[in-house]
Parts: sequence; C-alpha cells; structure tokens
Amino acid sequence: MSSVAFTNIATLVTNASHGDGTLGVLKGATLVVEDGLIAAITQGRPSGVDNEIDCSGKTLLPGFVDSHSHLIFAGDRAEEFSARSRGEKYTAGGIASTVGATRAASDSDLAHNAQRLLNEALSSGTTTIEIKSGYGLTAADESRSIEIAKSFTDETTLLAAHVIPQEYKQDPDAYVDLIINSIIPQSSAKWVDVFCDQGAFTPEQSEAILRAGIAHGMLPRIHANQLTAGKGVEIAVGLGAASADHLSKSTDADIALLASSNTVATLLPGAEFSTHLESNLGRRFLDAGATVAIASDCNPGSSYTTSMPFCIAAAVSLLGFTVEEAVLAATLGGAKALRRDDIGQLAVGKRANLVLLDSPSYIHLAYRPGVNLVHSTYKSGRAVTSWQK
Ligand code: NIG
Ligand code: FE
Repeated sequence: MSSVAFTNIATLVTNASHGDGTLGVLKGATLVVEDGLIAAITQGRPSGVDNEIDCSGKTLLPGFVDSHSHLIFAGDRAEEFSARSRGEKYTAGGIASTVGATRAASDSDLAHNAQRLLNEALSSGTTTIEIKSGYGLTAADESRSIEIAKSFTDETTLLAAHVIPQEYKQDPDAYVDLIINSIIPQSSAKWVDVFCDQGAFTPEQSEAILRAGIAHGMLPRIHANQLTAGKGVEIAVGLGAASADHLSKSTDADIALLASSNTVATLLPGAEFSTHLESNLGRRFLDAGATVAIASDCNPGSSYTTSMPFCIAAAVSLLGFTVEEAVLAATLGGAKALRRDDIGQLAVGKRANLVLLDSPSYIHLAYRPGVNLVHSTYKSGRAVTSWQK
C-alpha cells in the first residue's frame, strides 16, 4: 500500500458538499491518497504517509473529464480554418478530406497522432477522455479506429454515422444498412453516436442507428443541433442517451426537454470559438436548470484544441458561464456525461485523478487565457507526463 499527501493546498476544488459554494472549495486542506483512491481530506497534518507534496500557493482540482473528442484521424485542415477567418461558413463538408487522409494512414501513424494529442491534453490537466471513431467510414477503418482508441481509453465511441461517405452519396440508406448490419455488430466500442444534422443523418436514420447500437449493448449519445435545429434532442431523451452534444441551434423546447431529463447537455466551446456559431449558449442551458458538461470536441475541422482550460476560458467569455459553472462542467459535468461516478469529484473513495495548478485559485483558468497553468497532472495519485490508459 503506498500513500501520498497533498498538503497546504491553497485552494482545493472538491465539487462536493464538504466545501463551500458551487465548487465545494476548501482552503489550506490536506488530501491523502492511498492506492490510487482518495483516503482522506482533512485540515490537519497527515501522519504515516509515504510521500508529501507541498501545495502552498497552488490549486488542486479534479482532473478534467473531456467527454467528447475525435482523436483518431490523419492530416489537418488549417486552410479551412483560415478560409473561415475570411468569412467562409463551417458546414462539416471538410470531414470528407479527413476521411481520405485517415483511410490512407497506417495504424501506427493514427496511433502516434492520437498519442501526441493525448500528451497535450494530459499536460493541460485532462485525466479522462472519450474518443470517437468517425473518419474511417468503412467496416475495417471504423474497427481499427476503435481498436486504436481502446489502447488509450475505456470511453470509446463508434461514430460510423459521422457523414455519408463519398462512395454511398447516391444511396445513403445503403450506408445506414452497412452501419446497422455490419459495422455495429462487429464493434467493441462502449458508446454509439450519430451526427444528426443537415447534410449528415436524418432523424429516422439516426434513431435506427442508435437503436441498433443499443440492441448490440452500446450506450447512446448524439451530435445534435450543431448546424440546424432538428429532432436530435428528442431522440436522445427518448432513448435515455447519456449526453446530447453541440446543441448550438437548440430551441427553447429542446432546452426545456433536456433540463427535465437525465441527458447531459454537452456544450463545445472550442467549436463555438472556431466556427463562429452561437454566443451566450451556456446561459440558456444553465438558466433552464440543465446538467451541463463542456468538452474539447478535439478534431481537425471544427475545434482543433485539446485544452480544457482553453474551453473553460471560452465558455466564460463566449458562452455566458460563470467561472464556477465552467469548472464544474469541465469536471463533474463531463463525468456525468460519461455516467461515471468514480471521477469528477474529490471525496473519500473517489479516484485520485487530480490537476495541480500553479495559481492560487481556479479562477485563473479563465482569467489567464492561453497560459498553461498546469504544474502537474495525476492519474490514480501518480504524476504522469505521457498519456497512458
Ligand atoms: O463534432 N459535427 C461533426 N463532427 C465534428 C466535426 C468534424 C470535422 O469537421 O472534421 C464536430 O464538430
Ligand atoms: Fe464532435
């Protein structure tokens, strides 16, 4: 049994009721970890611990839970981003070029690219991440994407229903049949997702795909209302999805439905930032009482960032979150969007996934945008510098 104590923590964000305010904040506390789990949170000096980490002047909070990312791809689309700066609209049409580059890449190129991005995420405080497929769009390419994702995380999501691939453009239902009858039955992903939107999958196709995934033992989540308002939220809530994501064009009825449901509203500040979509989006969901998560949506098209601190800052400055709401959404909100109760909070018995900031308060996450304040990231109580599962 090995133990470590984090002592003299200037600000400890627990997200639990033993602290003050929205974030359950404690000042000057000590947090003791034993065998990867939190064993105690006290005000006193610990006795009999193997190691001590002095956190004077620093902030300790739950590691960020990034519940939405697309990390299995090759190439990038910098030119597309640059065109948007000249007024081009984001339509998700660039996905096809990433599909081409991904199909042409070797397994090891895809794994190395994902590892590079995961190292970035880790160094900005992410300790849990969900990873989607969706740039393969053949049975073989979706399956290898999930296998690569599984080497990095247990939270893997089959997004074969990302767009209709070029070779099925004349017969989209044939691709839906392939997903339902071949790709899903062969998949070992935990989650199933569909991009239910204009130019992607219709509500009928989306529901049929999610139902097929559920019948195969997968848990549903959805991309909804990113480009246009549609039926994605209704489908998600009807199927008991863990999360509905993007939601940029949501109607008030969608927001009320989510707020009355068990489905988390996951907002993606990086995508709002990079595609010039909706401002003040967060306030509408928060004021309605929805459970809200924020995630990176890291992908080469709409949001090429791995940084949850950046997403927190963008949520505050663009989407109308308070700092506390944004930090909560990036930690406990993400855990809820993945239906995980072992992470996202610092309390006895929870996993010791932690981020230590070189700043006296969590407020600096939004107050000092673009500055990496992360001193170290801990998974199960161990400082880690290279992402591993
Ligand atoms: O979540 N909306 C669909 N999928 C991605 C974007 C994919 C891309 O542009 O490559 C998203 O934003
Ligand atoms: Fe996405």
